[in-house]
Amino acid sequence: MGRAKKVVLAYSGGVDTSVCIPYLMHEWGVEEVITLAADLGQGDELDPIREKALKSGASESLVADVKDSFIHDYAFGAIQANALYENRYPLGTALARPLIAKILVEAAQKYGADAIAHGCTGKGNDQVRFDVSCAALNPNLKILAPAREWGMSREETIAYGEKFGIPAVVKKSSPYSIDKNLLGRSIEAGVLEDPAAEPPEEIYEMTKAIANTPNEPEYIEIGFNKGIPTTLNGTPKKPVELVEQLNQVVGNHGVGRIDMIENRLVGIKSREIYESPAMLVLIQAHRDLESLTLTADVTHYKRGVEETYSQIVYNGLWYSPLKAALDAFILKTQEQVSGTVRVKLFKGNATIVGRWSDNSLYSPDLATYGAEDQFDHKAAEGFIYVWGLPTRVWSQRLKS
Ligand code: ARG
Repeated sequence: MGRAKKVVLAYSGGVDTSVCIPYLMHEWGVEEVITLAADLGQGDELDPIREKALKSGASESLVADVKDSFIHDYAFGAIQANALYENRYPLGTALARPLIAKILVEAAQKYGADAIAHGCTGKGNDQVRFDVSCAALNPNLKILAPAREWGMSREETIAYGEKFGIPAVVKKSSPYSIDKNLLGRSIEAGVLEDPAAEPPEEIYEMTKAIANTPNEPEYIEIGFNKGIPTTLNGTPKKPVELVEQLNQVVGNHGVGRIDMIENRLVGIKSREIYESPAMLVLIQAHRDLESLTLTADVTHYKRGVEETYSQIVYNGLWYSPLKAALDAFILKTQEQVSGTVRVKLFKGNATIVGRWSDNSLYSPDLATYGAEDQFDHKAAEGFIYVWGLPTRVWSQRLKS
């Protein structure tokens, strides 16, 4: 008896996921492997990937274009939540995993598979995100993760694959481990493993080096409707188009790089480099628009919710009751978050230089230092008396 009869495998076309195919069949007794590649805008050629899966022994090779859903159903919620893990990482990789898990589970149900599989190792966050998401969506499916158990080195993996006719297309083998999609690139390994070493310029693709960015600033205007970005420079944009264009424009000014030491869920600190031009600017602009349209208490309370939201998305709990409850709160707060934010891009900086909204809570009559001032200055005195009373009592007790 094998570990499963029919398996749907998350497939990227890389060596590890390719080797999973014969490994599942020959070592774990799986009868049939169906591969599923998700098009998340990573820019890979998907036809060769289909071919490769079939050559590696898959009975069927599926490709799903999920770009629209990725932005609409996953990234937009994260923007409304101003989601930055450890205050910095806009979760490009983390947001893709629950979507991939969803289509894996759907395919498993459609093709009558009894298990899903992925090529994650045992050290990362992605295994957690896949396993927990799949369990949430269909707890009856088995989850197989060969690379978590096979204990083969990179060289051994390639050699194993070659036995089954899997070419090691490790052309001048990139020393980096890179995950890429519409929301950005996550880059690890190689020289980056030394936290003291400056990342070499060659790792970047979406963001220009400051030396090569334009010498003139560029202004862009991002329009939001209920917390969702809908226009760029006044023109309505479809979700994918908006993110693609923003990646271009923002990356061209060298904005969007992150170099951080990150705390993985499995307890390891890792050095991560991210490029995420569109997401970083969208979150920055969105948060700014909130400062104009939300009351102080909602803004402040939401910060804590955002922190929790970022952690649970990072930690693989996209499909969880807590996530659903936070979503309900966040959605409610977004009802008034419509308007436009003006951003200046220049030499690696994105600076918010203006914002306006029909729902603005900013009151010029109250804020002004000019003659139009409507604020009742005398009322401040009584307010401060009551506000400061506990402190006054405390001090008197202490000093007496
Ligand atoms: N550390 C990031 C995360 O957990 C990115 C991991 C991406 N994987 C990679 N092969 N670079 O979301």
